[in-house]
Amino acid sequence: MIDKAKLINLLLYDTLLVMALGKKLPNDILQITQNCDKHNERYIIYCKKHECPCCSSCIVENHSVCRDLAKLADNVQNIKTSNAFYEIEHSLTELAENIKTIRQNRQNILKTLSEKKFKILQEIKETRNTINNHLDKIQDDIINTLNLTEEKESRQIEVLLTQLKWKENEISECQRNIEKIRQHVTDLQTFVSIKQLVKKVSIKEQLLQSITKVENCQKSRLSYQVSTAIQKYVTDIQSFGEVHRRPSLVLSS
Ligand SMILES: *[C@@H]1O[C@H](CO)[C@@H](O)[C@H](O)[C@H]1NC(C)=O
Ligand SMILES: *[C@@H]1O[C@H](CO)[C@@H](O)[C@H](O)[C@H]1NC(C)=O
Repeated sequence: MIDKAKLINLLLYDTLLVMALGKKLPNDILQITQNCDKHNERYIIYCKKHECPCCSSCIVENHSVCRDLAKLADNVQNIKTSNAFYEIEHSLTELAENIKTIRQNRQNILKTLSEKKFKILQEIKETRNTINNHLDKIQDDIINTLNLTEEKESRQIEVLLTQLKWKENEISECQRNIEKIRQHVTDLQTFVSIKQLVKKVSIKEQLLQSITKVENCQKSRLSYQVSTAIQKYVTDIQSFGEVHRRPSLVLSS
């Protein structure tokens, strides 16, 4: 690769070359390149040590100790056949090739850039789908468990309700019996029958008490504890990932 200082030097050579070959340049450019910027005097000498053209004032100021000076006219005359000429030509070819390569490379990247973006978009969507599917699955699982638990509990309560209904019927029957005894039987019979009834009723009472006891022990029959991981999901996960770009060459003007 050619650095900036070398390139400027090359352009200066190039201008000299154009002059030497007698090609026509616009007058203002010829004016600039033939005269020294600083002293506005015509270049007459070429300093090989500093690789620059000099006017007479430049030589007095800066090149009084330089040994390798050449008259600009001589230097320009044999420039066509010199190594410098070949070197310039070669360097320019190389420079042009390098620029072409970089340009082609960047044009290719430009073409694939939107393809790459599309691929990343797909990846983001896939990630999202995977998360969605997983959330759907674990949600289905918990709803399923909830349904089954509720069904089981309902069934148990229904069984109990049926049992209570039987007990109610039995008690009603006892009550009816007491009424009958009071109306139709003798005192002795009453005494015996009542004793039996009391026995029956007290057994039923015990049963009822045990049911009520169990009842009080299980007030909340269905509850739910959300998993801490799910609770923390929104606060913990703040991004899908990162998008990176590789820094690219930009020419400064
Ligand atoms: C002379 O040399 C000095 C110091 O190196 C530099 O600042 C100045 O620009 C030079 N002048 C010319 C005419 O080349
Ligand atoms: C669970 O119950 C709800 C409401 O009763 C119902 O909509 C849903 O389909 C049930 N789900 C399963 C998996 O049984």
